[in-house]
Amino acid sequence: MPRLQVKDMRLYYSTLRGVVRAVDYVSFDIGEGEALGIVGESGSGKTSLGLSLMRLLPRNVHTFEGSISLNGTELKTLPEEEFRRNVRWRKIAMVFQGAMNALNPVLRVEDQIAEPLLNTTSTSREEARKRVEDLLKMVGLSKEVARRYPHELSGGMKQRVLIAMALILDPQILIMDEPTSALDVSIQAQIMNLMKRLKSKLNLSILFITHDIALASDICDRLGVVYAGELAEIGPSETILTAPKHPYTQLLLASIPKLTGSEMPKFIPGQTPDLANPPSGCRFHPRCPYVFQPCSQQNPSLIILNQQHSARCWLLEKS
Ligand SMILES: Nc1ncnc2c1ncn2[C@@H]1O[C@H](COP(=O)(O)OP(=O)(O)OP(=O)(O)O)[C@@H](O)[C@H]1O
Ligand SMILES: [Mg+2]
Repeated sequence: MPRLQVKDMRLYYSTLRGVVRAVDYVSFDIGEGEALGIVGESGSGKTSLGLSLMRLLPRNVHTFEGSISLNGTELKTLPEEEFRRNVRWRKIAMVFQGAMNALNPVLRVEDQIAEPLLNTTSTSREEARKRVEDLLKMVGLSKEVARRYPHELSGGMKQRVLIAMALILDPQILIMDEPTSALDVSIQAQIMNLMKRLKSKLNLSILFITHDIALASDICDRLGVVYAGELAEIGPSETILTAPKHPYTQLLLASIPKLTGSEMPKFIPGQTPDLANPPSGCRFHPRCPYVFQPCSQQNPSLIILNQQHSARCWLLEKS
């Protein structure tokens, strides 16, 4: 049984413009010690998906449906109090998008990291200090960082502190939302190496959210490509990179600049869809180079190409 199974997840928001379908029937699973990448352009619903698994929902939720099962236990219907006490941060933790800039400026690093431990368990101050020290070491920081304030840290160090914060209660699942997009490439590489080490050392299951498919493939065993709130394609990273079946995945890959050869990166034409009023049929059809008759009529279902690889496209339906 996979550690995490998500089925038909839906998260819609009520807005003045109508109902925004940010996550629309998304299903996937993640095994023990496995990393799944969720890749897609801005506004495709990646953060919403992460927040739905943490059950951290804004007030204007219109629909929150589907199943989230952890080691076979259904979490979606768990009473909020139980979810807060036993699941959020303890089983599933998240490094939020842009959180580097949201560290509390007046709290020392050790107090920020230890807070959940001191507030929700009977751990003593001394034990908490030791745990923080161990965690700092694990994320590649020296123990003297514990006494520093956030403004005394570089971006890369802040990101490591955030990872330590997420790991303090020893979760099984770690959701990372664009964890390196504010960092320069050399620091980005260091954080990716750290994540790979933590993944195998802690046997962590990771949901790695990013707009950067190349970055995701570095750590992820499998990749899920989202478009307009839906999963367009999902499969092993290598298959997605070398034999993508969905035209959107193909265009996403063609948009990556290459170091060798004379091929110029191609840009994806058109605009990202409005999720309050998505295109009819296949949501990608207005931008798709292969559009044909059925595409604007009906949304294709996610077609299973083989046990591990699925894609949502009428071209595949035909063959
Ligand atoms: N609380 C909210 N109320 C209304 N609409 C929202 C809310 N949060 C997000 N949205 C909308 O839902 C859609 C998905 O947003 P989300 O932040 O999940 O996308 P994303 O893929 O994480 O984007 P990015 O790559 O820019 O971080 C967008 O159209 C966004 O405007
Ligand atoms: Mg986001």
